[in-house]
Amino acid sequence: TNTTDTSMIHYWKYFAKGIGYTLLITAISVVIGVILGTLLALMRLGKNKLLHALAVAYIEFVRGTPLMIQVMFVYFGLGIFLDIPALLAGIIAVALNSGAYVAEIIRSGIESIPVGQTEAARSLGLSQKQTMQSVVFPQALKNIWPALGNEFISLIKESSIASIIGVTDLIYQLKVVQTATYKGVQPIIVAMVIYFVLTFGLSKILGYFEKRMKHDEAT
Ligand code: ARG
Repeated sequence: TNTTDTSMIHYWKYFAKGIGYTLLITAISVVIGVILGTLLALMRLGKNKLLHALAVAYIEFVRGTPLMIQVMFVYFGLGIFLDIPALLAGIIAVALNSGAYVAEIIRSGIESIPVGQTEAARSLGLSQKQTMQSVVFPQALKNIWPALGNEFISLIKESSIASIIGVTDLIYQLKVVQTATYKGVQPIIVAMVIYFVLTFGLSKILGYFEKRMKHDEAT
């Protein structure tokens, strides 16, 4: 008899599409998050009181409200004024969210470099900007690499929150496959394994670069 094929392999295209969206949201958000986070960290550490206050307020507010609400707020809030696709809203929300977390990572990285380093560089005649660029940032990057990697991995998992506004990421697809196959557990297991392969793979890649930075330091 010709029954519906409920084996998971039959639905690989759904999962593949989900992986694509999950990685797309994550990749764009991590780039925007690092740029925004660097800016916020510099604002927070800078002497300008207004910029400092703005950065602190942004970071505290974003970290103090659930990403889920932020995703809904961007989608339905901006939706009042313009018709933005769910995917774009999801990317905007996740990126803005990540910026706040990255800002704190970068701030801690910059603060981990002893003031003596800056003083030495400045007394050698380097400008404030040159000191940041060639003395503080390179050392800070090495220190914060594991934390930045953590954020990257978090985003692979947390981007799934965008599924609640209908972004067809991995979590969304897992529900689609559940509905199509009447199977509750198998799609969950498949998605779970896929998430693990993605995060574990990324963790290995990040570890490789971490080792290389340590090696550069030693030679
Ligand atoms: N799920 C938590 C929340 O809703 C954590 C979000 C984490 N975001 C991040 N960029 N690491 O707030």
